[in-house]
Amino acid sequence: MGGVFIRPIAGVEGEIRVPGDKSISHRAALMGGMAFGETHVTNFLLGQDCLSTLRCLKQLGVVWERQGTEVWIRGKGMEAWQEPTNVLDAGNSGTTFRLMLGVLAGSPFSVTLSGDDSLRSRPMRRVTGPLKQMGASILGRSGGNMAPITMMGGQLQGQSFHTEVASAQVKSAILLAGLRANGETSVQEPSLSRDHTERMLRGFGVEVDSAETFVKVRGGARLTGQKVFVPGDISSAAFFLVLGSLMRQGEIILPDVGINPTRTGIIDVLQAMGADIELLESSELCGEPRATLRVRPSQLKGVELGGDMIPRLIDEIPILAVAASLAEGETVIRDAAELRVKETDRIQRVAQGLNALGAKIEELPDGMRIQGQPALRGGEASSFGDHRLAMAWAIVGMLSKEGVSVEDMSAADVSYPNFIDVIKKVVL
Ligand code: S3P
Repeated sequence: MGGVFIRPIAGVEGEIRVPGDKSISHRAALMGGMAFGETHVTNFLLGQDCLSTLRCLKQLGVVWERQGTEVWIRGKGMEAWQEPTNVLDAGNSGTTFRLMLGVLAGSPFSVTLSGDDSLRSRPMRRVTGPLKQMGASILGRSGGNMAPITMMGGQLQGQSFHTEVASAQVKSAILLAGLRANGETSVQEPSLSRDHTERMLRGFGVEVDSAETFVKVRGGARLTGQKVFVPGDISSAAFFLVLGSLMRQGEIILPDVGINPTRTGIIDVLQAMGADIELLESSELCGEPRATLRVRPSQLKGVELGGDMIPRLIDEIPILAVAASLAEGETVIRDAAELRVKETDRIQRVAQGLNALGAKIEELPDGMRIQGQPALRGGEASSFGDHRLAMAWAIVGMLSKEGVSVEDMSAADVSYPNFIDVIKKVVL
């Protein structure tokens, strides 16, 4: 294989400012486009996923400008959105695809959404089903379950939904559609998924009723343009939390990382494994808590996790599996079958990929059983186009005996442009 070779390192010393949160960047762009007046987003993530959202907005007639990580969106309300003259391409981004369907369900025109090979194989009925019940007309491959999907929006009727999986993309799509429906629209989740949509809607002036795993909005809402400061993405910081815990020497400081409690499962679990992670300064801005994180080397031990913890760290399970592979004892991850329908089947890909690098992982239908090892050998691994796998393999390379050659490392650009260059600057 001709991948990018990541060599073993002794450690890292210094500060790494992780890029803006992916989930929050998507929502800031979408709500900015839905609102009346200007929305100014600071620290917008320039990952390919969020750029897909911006491109789709442009095709719908939303005017925005970008300079570096700052974006100005000149919102004129949803009535100003226009029927696109071509297919909307969400690329690799499930969030773009599913949230955009929700936003557009109340628009009286037709749109076709598609994406890359990975996105076209991911289940969409979880969103198209509820939106159809609200009144949208939707056709797609395999009975409306797979992209390309064509939707003819229109007047929607508010509904109450009980979702089967805790998915913020599903919840958000329904709530965003509910803003334009008659009456009330509510979602009851099996456990709480990330609540950035609810928090940001409130920031844009929308009344949102929520209690634990229940949330409700009313139709006819008016969004007003806002200033949005996007915190650093804890899902990106997670790679350094694991590297910093398992490296032999040094210390990593991660300033301004989002610590919304629906996202901090990775900190809780790593701390339960024995990690030395401290929250140094914390504050709240734009309804989202944030903190400076400090991580130092430690000896990790295995852990068992499942249930309500899973939605709080679903995207971090690939890198958590790396941590567990180098921890003392056994780690068992259950209730995470959702991993099979992410950018790749992350249970299969993580188990196969890490095993080839020297780990001992048994695949379970809904998770993994991992026997920790004192060291990983290294070798060759492919991202299969999955950004979080690319970065997980790079971290294994740094912690391994022989290094790792990562095929398709550039997939990391989906959520973390220049990931490798950033680390090179602070390596000891
Ligand atoms: C996201 C929700 C999660 C997560 C994804 C981003 C979001 O997906 O895995 O990376 O921004 O709403 P699900 O809603 O499918 O769980």
